[in-house]
Amino acid sequence: MRVDVLHGPNLNLLGEREPTVYGKATLAEIDSRLMAIGAELSCEVRTFQSNHEGALVDYLHATRRLADAYILNPAGYTHTSVALRDAVIAVAKPAIEVHLSNTDAREAFRHKSLLADVVLGRIQGLGAQGYEWALRALVAHLRAGQQA
Ligand code: DQA
Repeated sequence: MRVDVLHGPNLNLLGEREPTVYGKATLAEIDSRLMAIGAELSCEVRTFQSNHEGALVDYLHATRRLADAYILNPAGYTHTSVALRDAVIAVAKPAIEVHLSNTDAREAFRHKSLLADVVLGRIQGLGAQGYEWALRALVAHLRAGQQA
């Protein structure tokens, strides 16, 4: 079982970027915690960050036969990217959308997610822990599918 985690633009600056909004954890800390939880759950975890919309689309295409599911935090592209939405539909794998902050409690332009209706579920506002719940939820979802 393999779950791939995609982080969108500016998330490489976590830890120093608006820590009151996004928390103090760095992306490397979040990724290594996800790998540790993955090891506990016997699930391979791969992570990828890009500041470029097309690179995120390319990553989904390249991994579509390798990953069983995705955790997606497309950051600013959540609210704008038809291309990323189309790629998520195209790869046809279960995905959970994660946001560190509660985007519904922020500016109006963050209330719209172009992924919301094409993902399995969404977690927002729980900080870095949201990624961990997403990983546990996807592993449980995949295992339930294997038994069915
Ligand atoms: C974010 C929320 C987005 O609105 C914002 O553009 C980000 C991060 C979050 O994790 O809270 O860059 O996806």
